[in-house]
Amino acid sequence: MKKYRWVALLIPVLAVALLAAGCGTSQNQNQVADLQQRVGAIENKVGNVEGTPFNGKDVSILGTTPKFAITMREYGDRFSDMYYAAKGGNWALAAYLDHYLRASLTWTKVTKPKEQDSIKSFHQSYLDPLLVTVANKDLPAFMTQYQKTIEGCNGCHKAMGYGFITVGLPKAPADTHFDYNQKTTATDFKEFVMPGK
Ligand code: HEC
Repeated sequence: MKKYRWVALLIPVLAVALLAAGCGTSQNQNQVADLQQRVGAIENKVGNVEGTPFNGKDVSILGTTPKFAITMREYGDRFSDMYYAAKGGNWALAAYLDHYLRASLTWTKVTKPKEQDSIKSFHQSYLDPLLVTVANKDLPAFMTQYQKTIEGCNGCHKAMGYGFITVGLPKAPADTHFDYNQKTTATDFKEFVMPGK
């Protein structure tokens, strides 16, 4: 019997340990249940980015966030206006349009994560050199780079299965109400940053 005495001593110790662990687990379970409830309540209000139904209807944040078709409207419109801004000597407007046409694709960081590398490389290879010509008020260089950029636009459309979306030199600005002939400098747009700086 003597040799089993340590077991007898151990039993209450084990019991206390088990009780403590049990308490811990049920506390964790409560916390998990509480969090699940709160996440559920939020998802019910705002939907789930991964696509669960919103309020039981077939919509979700991801499903209603702009992808390329909507963002490319803004992108293309600002790009065509940029042409008229440069031609008219409103270089600050051209720099501003460059800034916001790039920004218009921000939604795609959520909806098209896989395409971010091609967007980034397009901006570096085509839009950065174009912006340098804007900063230098160099119209002939702008025209050459603008044409090259158009080819880049169409290259991406083709690569992504939209070979029928072919853009060319604009025939009219998307926004006819701007004063394209106002004489300005890229730095008049306070958010202008020289590419690479
Ligand atoms: C990273 C690839 C990529 C680049 C670069 C790109 N596009 Fe697009 N663009 C697309 C895709 C993809 C579509 C088709 C829309 C869709 O898939 O929802 C599109 C569609 C368009 C549309 C039609 C939008 C509509 O539905 O009304 C215009 C206009 C457009 N692009 C202009 C341009 C211009 C101008 C440039 C260059 C300055 C350009 N795009 C560069 C991927 C690109």
